[in-house]
Amino acid sequence: MLKPDSHYSASHGPVSVRSRSDQMIVEGKLMRVYTLDVPVKRLSTGITDLHPSSNLSIMYLFLLNMTRPKIELGDVTPHNIKQLKRLNTVVFPVSYNEKFYKDVLEAGELAKLAYYNDIVIGAVCCRIDPNNGRKLYIMTLGCLSPYRRLGIGSLMLEHILSYVEKDGNFDSIYLHVQLNNDVAIDFYKKFGFEIVETKQHYYKRIEPADAYVLQKTLRKNVTNGEEQKDGK
Ligand SMILES: CC(C)(COP(=O)(O)OP(=O)(O)OC[C@H]1O[C@@H](n2cnc3c(N)ncnc32)[C@H](O)[C@@H]1OP(=O)(O)O)[C@@H](O)C(=O)NCCC(=O)NCCS
Repeated sequence: MLKPDSHYSASHGPVSVRSRSDQMIVEGKLMRVYTLDVPVKRLSTGITDLHPSSNLSIMYLFLLNMTRPKIELGDVTPHNIKQLKRLNTVVFPVSYNEKFYKDVLEAGELAKLAYYNDIVIGAVCCRIDPNNGRKLYIMTLGCLSPYRRLGIGSLMLEHILSYVEKDGNFDSIYLHVQLNNDVAIDFYKKFGFEIVETKQHYYKRIEPADAYVLQKTLRKNVTNGEEQKDGK
């Protein structure tokens, strides 16, 4: 954190900084923010271009970059598959067999780990429906509870939705959820999934045993009797 009258080394060389402090809410946290009394353009060309008139905006961006966690997706490989197994054991009440993990290793972009500052905290695993190659099935999508509600579930689902959109050959994307999993139902509904079926006794060892099928139909136009993807 910068102290008043401290020196700040910026991309244009060391800059003597005079500052006054303010308090402001940054991403829900009360933080002390120092306003710089230096010519804006001396700090960083990129930031200056975005915010030519506000020193406070620059400081805000600077603090955001300092405090913002690094959240990213990575491939599942033989080197990290054990982390996926551990994660799934903690996140899901159902256990997955060796065949599941063998298939995941071959799923390419359809299986991803989510990292929070380089730590594995989430994962998504999908497969193409063996009975209907135009349907994508989400087998698992979840993150550790302390890391929920940070947009990580959305990041994983958006990755999969963007994959199916680019591929262009899928009619729908679907998954099963336990009847009482209101959080997951709300989450998927936000992305346009709908409950299309209830499967009684779907789960063997957990209660409730019934599951909803949540499905998102991918957008299609019908032109001259032929199915066509939007915009194609
Ligand atoms: C479902 C799950 C993946 C959501 O992940 P997440 O990272 O918390 O989700 P996000 O932060 O991206 O939330 C996106 C939106 O989903 C909805 N949502 C997520 N959690 C919610 C909750 N606890 N209550 C209500 N809505 C919720 C909200 O609309 C949220 O948007 P908002 O935060 O802007 O209001 C996560 O709760 C989880 O891992 N659950 C256990 C595993 C599971 O049940 N997976 C689903 C079956 S595969």
